[in-house]
Amino acid sequence: MKGIVFNVLEDIVTEHYGEAGWDDVLGRAEVSGVYTSLGNYEDDEMMRLVSAACEITGLDTSDCLQWIGREMLPRFEQAYPGVFDPYPDSMGLLQALNDVIHPEVVKLYPGAQVPVFDCEQTGPHELSMDYRSERGLCSLAHGLMLGTGDRYGQTVHVDHPECQHRGDTRCHFQIHIEPRVG
Ligand code: HEM
Repeated sequence: MKGIVFNVLEDIVTEHYGEAGWDDVLGRAEVSGVYTSLGNYEDDEMMRLVSAACEITGLDTSDCLQWIGREMLPRFEQAYPGVFDPYPDSMGLLQALNDVIHPEVVKLYPGAQVPVFDCEQTGPHELSMDYRSERGLCSLAHGLMLGTGDRYGQTVHVDHPECQHRGDTRCHFQIHIEPRVG
């Protein structure tokens, strides 16, 4: 996984638990903690860091990944200024993720391996998304979806009725985005 994701995780943990918290995470994960944004690092190293972050937050893996994803979205925007500008709302952003945003990320960060989202608008405020990735980070995706709602001041409800971690054949999300009032 790209170093930028490690940098963002460090930023999240440090903001909430201080530098001592991040040192604690590095110690528990038994990793060096030196990541340059363009570097590529083993997925296993990220998974060890996530497990360690779960321990210090006291959250289970799925809730912790969701928390990380939600915190990650504004930091991605800082790292890629203007990335959201073309999209007026969460619906627009989520629909552009698979065909525009992640492909741009791959151009900017050679070697990035982004997940695939099969996305379909199923109603005026409803979206169906299937997540596909070897990494099994569907809960991170869940958190990032909630983060888009934060970004646009919209309430986003995310259901995850089918999940490969629960033995289903796919990871399927149903998303309902509440219309803005006023
Ligand atoms: C500003 C918008 C976004 C940017 C710049 C961005 C960028 C990235 C980058 C750099 C990675 C790491 C790829 C690698 O290391 O190989 C990544 C992974 C990922 N992204 Fe995005 N992303 C954005 C929005 C989103 C949103 C809205 C979602 C979910 C709906 C999402 C879901 C994911 C997931 C789940 C991964 C983990 C990798 C995997 O599951 O295989 N991203 N993204």
